[in-house]
Parts: sequence; C-alpha cells; structure tokens
Amino acid sequence: FTVPTPVNEPVCDYAPGSAERDSLLNRLGELAKTQHVLDMHIGGKDRRGGGEEIKVVQPHKHAHVLGVAHAATSEQAADAVAAAKKAAPAWSRMPFEDRAAIFLKAAELLAGPWRDTINGATILGQSKTAMQAEIDAACELIDFLRFNVHFAEQIYSKQAISSKGLWNRTDHRPLDGFVYAVTPFNFTAIAGNLPTSPALMGNTVVWKPASTQLLSAHFTMQVLRAAGLPDGVINMVHGPGPEISDVVMSDKDLSGVHFTGSTAVFQHLWKTVGTNIANYRSYPRLVGETGGKDFIIAHESANIDELAVAIVRGSFEYQGQKCSAVSRSYVPRSLWEAGVRDKVVQMARDVSYGDPTDFSNFGGAVIDKRAFDKHTALFDRVSGDDSCEVLAGGTADDSVGYFVDPTVIECSDPTHELFHTEYFGPIVGVHVFEDNAFDSVVNQAADIAPYALTGALFATDREVIGRTSEALRFAAGNYYINDKPTGAVVGQQPFGGSRGSGTNDKAGSWQNLVRWVSPRSIKENF
Ligand code: ALA
Repeated sequence: FTVPTPVNEPVCDYAPGSAERDSLLNRLGELAKTQHVLDMHIGGKDRRGGGEEIKVVQPHKHAHVLGVAHAATSEQAADAVAAAKKAAPAWSRMPFEDRAAIFLKAAELLAGPWRDTINGATILGQSKTAMQAEIDAACELIDFLRFNVHFAEQIYSKQAISSKGLWNRTDHRPLDGFVYAVTPFNFTAIAGNLPTSPALMGNTVVWKPASTQLLSAHFTMQVLRAAGLPDGVINMVHGPGPEISDVVMSDKDLSGVHFTGSTAVFQHLWKTVGTNIANYRSYPRLVGETGGKDFIIAHESANIDELAVAIVRGSFEYQGQKCSAVSRSYVPRSLWEAGVRDKVVQMARDVSYGDPTDFSNFGGAVIDKRAFDKHTALFDRVSGDDSCEVLAGGTADDSVGYFVDPTVIECSDPTHELFHTEYFGPIVGVHVFEDNAFDSVVNQAADIAPYALTGALFATDREVIGRTSEALRFAAGNYYINDKPTGAVVGQQPFGGSRGSGTNDKAGSWQNLVRWVSPRSIKENF
C-alpha cells in the first residue's frame, strides 16, 4: 500500500460567468432557504440534544436563522463517550489501508459532489467569501485528509533494526482510550482535521464543534458518513464547552485532547486533566493550538508595495479572524512616510465588508455579538487615548449583521494593549519607529505578547534577514520572510505555535500524527 505524495487541491477561482460560480450560487440559494436540523451524531445515529436551543444564524444577516441545534445533556455527553469506547476495538484493529480509504474517499467527495455544500455552509454560517471558503472548507480540508494519509503511511512504515537471530519491530498502536476534539469556528478545515487525524491513527473520538460553526460541521459529519466512517468512530456533540468537557474529561479512558481555540479554554482543559490525573488509565496527550498576536515587522530595506499589501490582506481577510491574522505591525518611519501609510489607509478604506454571497465583497461580518462587542469596546478605549490615532475604521454596525470596519490604529506606545492583547477581529495596531531603532523594536516585539503563533519579516538586506530571524526565533511557530503570515498550506508550511499559542504539534504534518499513536517496541529472538 503506497499512497502517492499528494498534490495540493487546486483552488477554484469561481470566475464571473463560470459554471462553478453558477453552481455555487445555486447551492447557496438552496442552503439559505432551508431550515437545517442540526442534530448531534452519536454511535452512528442522529440525536437531538436534550439541552438548550442553539440558533445558528448568518453573522452578516443575523435575523436569518439557518438552523437550530440543541446542546447535549450530561447523559448524552456520556453516551458519546460510551459510543467512542464501544467502537474502539474494531476501529483500532481495522487495517490502516481500510481506515485510510475512508478518509481518501471523504477527500474525493469534498473535491467533487460536496464541494458546493461545504463551501456554501461555510459562506453562510461563518461569513466567509467564496474564495476564503474555497481555500478553507474545500482545499485545506481535502489537503488535510490526503496528506494525513500519506504521513500516516510513512509513520507506519518505520521499523526498528533487525540483526541475525533477532527481530526488532514497532507496533504502532492507537492510544489506549478515546480522544476528545474541541474545534473552533474560524476554519471548517481545522474543525474537520481535529477529529479525523486521531481517527486516522486508529482512535475513536468525541468531537465538540464550536456552536458558531454547526452548519459546516453538520455537513462535514455527513461527508464522513457518506465515505463509510463506521458507527461510533467520530461522535459529534453540541453545546457549551465547560459542561460537556466536564463529563467527557472525567472518563478514565480519556487518552488525548485535540484542541484549537482560545488560550483560556485550553488552560481550563489542561487544568481539568490535572485535576483528574490520578483517575486516568493513561496520561492524556494534550495537543492545542491557541491564541495569537501575529505580527509584521518591516526593515527600511523592505519593498513598500509588498509590505502594504501584506498588512492589509494579513489583517483584513476573513475579518481578521484567522488564527494567523496580522494584528500588529512595526514599520520604520522612512517607509511609513514614503508610501506605506497612504497605501495601507487607502486599501483599508476600500475594503468592502458585506454579504459574502455577493462576490464583489472582500469580506463579511465578525462571527457573533460577543466578538462585535469586544471590538467596539476597544474602539471606545482607544478613542480617549492620546497615544493612538485611528487612521481607518474604528466604526461598526450590528443593525443587520455584525459588521466591524477594517481598522488601522497608529500608536506611539509599543507597550500599548494593541501590541499584546488578542482581539481576533479586523483591527491592526501600527507602531512607527525611527529607522535606527530597528533592532530594539524587534527585540521588544519578540517578547511583549504572550503568544508565538505567526509572524513576518519584510526586508531585502540578507544580513538583516539573518540576524532578525535569529532574534525572532521563538516569537513565531510559523515565520514568514517577505510574505504575509497567513495562509499556511498543508504539506508546505506545517502549522502551529508555542508559548501561549499552543503545543506546536504542527497541524498537517507527521509531527501531529505521532501524538495519536502509542508505539510498542517488540524484540523477538529466533
Ligand atoms: N492555517 C491557517 C493560516 O495559516 C490558520 O492562515
């Protein structure tokens, strides 16, 4: 069994007048007019939650309810754990080739007949434009599935050395228990990857998607079922994280947590594991990708046009809600005054956020009222602050959707909250420094935020690139030179960060997959 090295799924551009655009528009129309029943999925069966109602709306048109889900009761969360445990023996003994075939089939379905559905659900439910949905829900999810199979095969093929009369080998077992996957709203691909990568390695999973991502999560589950995923391998439960986590994580067979979301929630999960540690049969593997305060730092040798475009695209694509989105930039005064300021401000003002089903819009709304309120509270704080000047945006309107305008705030104080607090929205703080202060600004930027997810350096001077990359060594798990720090591609830039940004077990690589196996070393004499 040899899986050819995958190639990244080509991005469809949905050009005006193309058959692909017509087809997507048609599916969007159908999805928007349907009231979706967003049931949970436990032990191979759809289950209506017995807890509180969760309304799933279009963030850019919040009066439009797409569907209704219900939170799991404690008993239902326990049922999901029981279903995962029941399915584990058969799933873990299924030959890897057969498990792999299911996920490869899911990738084929997403690339073909399900593409419009998964993209459409992501556009409507998470307020992504067609292009942002395409690179996420279609291409990245397909890439995760195909590349993970390829990496898993490489892991399984690793054998220890044998010699005369002695056979050393390695049995790549799954973990001895089940995995809990807790996933975010902002990437349909991440939400699909977190339960499927442990499952590919033979583990069964309880999956809790974010309540603001339930439409695309619902269809992801359907695709996996259509691809032949057996009952109980991935069990999807809805609802508020703390209640469900308390039930799931108190089970003695919890053997791993695969998480993407906020630093605070991951810390809570970690503490829960700590509290229960004596009750578990194994030490659970904890894999998390958490917060970020992602940056661009420019040197006076940088290209002005490339820098300005990177700041705008990095900060404002998907309304600044990528984990990798730029939220602080450091620009030398010479470049700022030679055109970066004017270009960034003009482009930010030209960015149009609106209904993402209108292909002329650059973006949609932020995910929900809580995010909206957080951003407007920042605008209030900044408006009374003499060290800050709002150059673009600083305005918001939630009458129809949760719209926050692309916001550029120049701030003379590099210790301001703008440079260390995560907002997760379309807001970038810019600190303009004297050209000769570059090295001290780099050192300060490297340590002022408690995160280390993504960051970019813009410079053309090789000596500067070398010494700055060294100074920023621990400041970003994904580090870019002369490119925006968003848009990591599976198989090309494995993704993850350290410090408050996570355990850096790179998504989309063998380094992540090895966390879901528990090898047994076997020595045999003969
Ligand atoms: N993988 C996503 C990106 O790099 C988060 O933008």
